[in-house]
Order: sequence, then C-alpha cells, then structure tokens
Amino acid sequence: MSNTDNRNMVLGMLAYATGQHVASWLQSTAPADATTNIGYWRRLASLAEEGRFDLFFLADSPGARTEKLNDFSRFPYMMNMFEPVTLLSALAGSTKHIGLGATGSTSFYEPYNLARLFASLDHLSQGRAGWNVVTTASDYAARNFGLDRLPPHGQRYARAREFFEVVMRLWDTWDDDAFIADKAACRMFEPEKFHVTDFQGEHVRVHGALNIRRTPQGRPVIIQAGSSEEGKSFAAEAAEVVFASDPTFDEAKRFYADVKGRMSAFNRDTSQLKILPGLSVMVGSSKAEAEDKYRELQNLIHPDVGRMRLGMDLEADLTGLPVDEPIPEHLIPKKANLHQAYFRQITTLIREQNLTLRQLYTSYDRGKVTVCGTPEQIVDYMEEWVDGGAADGFMLAFHVVPNDTEDFVRKVVPEMQRRGRLRKEYTGTTLRDNLGLERPVSRHAR
Ligand SMILES: Cc1cc2nc3c(=O)[nH]c(=O)nc-3n(C[C@H](O)[C@H](O)[C@H](O)COP(=O)(O)O)c2cc1C
Repeated sequence: MSNTDNRNMVLGMLAYATGQHVASWLQSTAPADATTNIGYWRRLASLAEEGRFDLFFLADSPGARTEKLNDFSRFPYMMNMFEPVTLLSALAGSTKHIGLGATGSTSFYEPYNLARLFASLDHLSQGRAGWNVVTTASDYAARNFGLDRLPPHGQRYARAREFFEVVMRLWDTWDDDAFIADKAACRMFEPEKFHVTDFQGEHVRVHGALNIRRTPQGRPVIIQAGSSEEGKSFAAEAAEVVFASDPTFDEAKRFYADVKGRMSAFNRDTSQLKILPGLSVMVGSSKAEAEDKYRELQNLIHPDVGRMRLGMDLEADLTGLPVDEPIPEHLIPKKANLHQAYFRQITTLIREQNLTLRQLYTSYDRGKVTVCGTPEQIVDYMEEWVDGGAADGFMLAFHVVPNDTEDFVRKVVPEMQRRGRLRKEYTGTTLRDNLGLERPVSRHAR
C-alpha cells in the first residue's frame, strides 16, 4: 500500500533540536544540551514516528558563523550541531519505519564520499535514507574549504549536475544480485555484476567503484529544495521529494503545476515526485488562543536578533536603533539587491502601518506563514492545499521543539487520521514504501 492508492498526505519534519523559530530555545522544554544529546534526539525521532511521519529530516551547512557573534550568541543557528549523517546513523537503530533524510552539499563533498555515506545509511536503516541535494549558499561554509567566497550560482549548479550523475553511477556499481556468497565455488561475488564508473567532467573526475553493495532502496530517495530555474528543472528530471517554500496557495499551486508539468519531458510519472511546501503551525483550543501563543513567542525575540534579521532582509544596518520608534526614513534603501520579495514585504509593512522597529520584527517572518488554529482548522488548511493541487503533503517546521511537535502529534495527527488523511500504522518498511515511490532499476539491468 502506498500514498498513491489513498488520500494520505505526506508528512516530513524539518528537525531542529529546539525548533526553527529564532527564539525557540528560550521556550523549548528540551534539555539545555539538546543539540548534541543523543538520548534527546532519539526521543524526538520516536515522537515523529509515533505521529506516523514519512520523513525525519536534518538541514545542514558545513560551517559556523564567524561574525556578528553578539547576535548569533542569542540565536545560535548552525553554531553547534551534529554532522547529520552521523546522527541519522544513530537514529537508524532507535527507529523502525520513519525515513531519515539529510542535506549533503555538492559543493563541499566529493561525490565518492557522499555516495558512500548515504549508501551506508540506507543499509544501516534497512532502506530509509534520503539525500537532499544542495549546492550550499553560505560563504561561511566556502571559507572552510579553501575559498574566499562561494562560486557563482551557475557554476555551483554545473558542478552539482556532474556530482549528481557520478553519485547515481556509483550507487549502481553492484547489481542487486552480485553477491552470491557461494562457499562451494569459493566465490563471494560475480565479477560481471560489478561496474566501474569512468567520468571525466569539467568539475568532477572519477574512475572507480563504490565499495558497498547496492542499497535496500536501490538508492536513497532524492530530495531537492531550490526554486531557481536550475533547481526546478533538476527537480523535474531527478527529484523524488521537493521541499517548496511558497507562502501563498496561489504561488504554491503555480509552482506545483510548473514542476510536475516538466516531468513528462523526462518520461516520468507525476506520482513519482512528492511536493511538500513548508508549514509552521500553532495549535490552540481556539484560533485566538493559538494566536496568543504565537504572539508570546514572537515577543521573546531579543532586540539584537530582531534588528539583525530585519536588517539583513531590508539591507540596512539597524544596529543600536531604538526599538520603540519607527526606522528613520533615510536608512531605508530605495531598492533591494538580495531578496526582492522579503524586501518588499518589509517596506510595505513600514509604509502601510507605520510600525515601530519592535512591531516590525515581531510581525515579519521571512515570507513564511504560521497557521494558528484548532486541530480541525489546521487540517482544513492542509486539505485545502492538497485537494486544491498545491501540495502532496507538508514539511512541518515546528517553531518550538519538542513543545509544538507534541501538540501536533497528540492533537492534529488524530484529526488527520479521523479524516483518512494519514496512515494509522506504517504499511511498508522503506522510505520508498512510505512515499509510494518505485524502487529504481539499476542502469546496468535496464
Ligand atoms: C525545507 C528546506 C530545507 C532546506 N535545507 C537546506 C539545507 O539544509 N542546507 C542548505 O544549504 N540549503 C537548504 N535549503 C535551501 C535550498 O536547498 C536552496 O539552496 C535554496 O532554496 C536556493 O536554491 P535556488 O538557488 O535553486 O533557488 C533548504 C530549503 C528548504 C525549503
């Protein structure tokens, strides 16, 4: 049984130790050392599994911030964390059904390392691994790898293409039935079922073969999250899960139709790609109670963090400005260089509502929407998106973990199950089974 046969929504959890909100750690009930506490991570993954999630996912960037430490000491994002495949390998032993996905950078790994790591994870978890193919957009990471700054967008994607091709070939090194362990004939594997990769690209060169057998899923599930032209065409050609980030239904629906519409050019069935927009929720016994909870959390944002995050998207230095007055007009740039949409959202708030700096940073959340409501209202919202052709399910980015995850699992999940929108029990054993994805046939068997 798979998601394609029924009305199940796909559920992923974007897992941060204390949540994705900038002030999450101030409200989280997690232990103080949560980010590197394996007992805590095991409880968290089990909670997602209790909620019958398809996928437990770890974002990653290989580099801590080295500047603005006063601000980042109050918002310690990416400053202290496990290497994700190492953590997932530990979680493979304490979970049974939930998929285990992580980001792996095509800019800062060699394809051989990456193919080996994720193949090992797929074996360790008996078929539950997923790789989020990311080019990494952080100069902090670049400086850890001998560069002064990131290579340009086009160059990163050109390397990503070659990198991906090599990883896929390496994963097909061994045919499924290559290992025969025939003691009588003294033969462990059949040499003709072993295939060498020989790839000479502009960015990547590999002549060799992977030293681990083909994985339970054939290969890990391929995840993609970029929304540029390159990102979308890569998704249509090769991705099996896409993390989308459009804040409104209309934009999400356009993105969904756009990416799925490109798949026929690659001879792919649209059921073989699951598009999951990000979703943050606040659960309450009434909409007003949920909104109060969210406001309380927003009010915990430290002024230094508020100024830094708003300043980044407004492309203005707001350091030291009084928070209970509006931003002086002369500091507001005429136009944006970086994120047009974020910039427009902030300047609209300034022009239309004449908000103070504090009011601004407590109402602005980088184009993201938080759905506040009762469990019924939240499931209504999710159904509207899925049934309206804007999503196959959602990537849940909980503001405060484990608090909001517990609320979701205990209150929203039962409502989803009552409406027949989420499995009550897992039916398969692999991540591909959870998602209703086919097991890929090796290129050498085709
Ligand atoms: C749910 C989600 C998770 C992501 N996780 C990561 C991550 O772990 N590491 C990273 O460098 N980028 C991550 N990204 C960013 C994207 O992979 C991508 O780099 C970004 O959207 C820009 O891509 P584009 O240039 O194709 O638009 C994530 C995006 C989304 C929506």
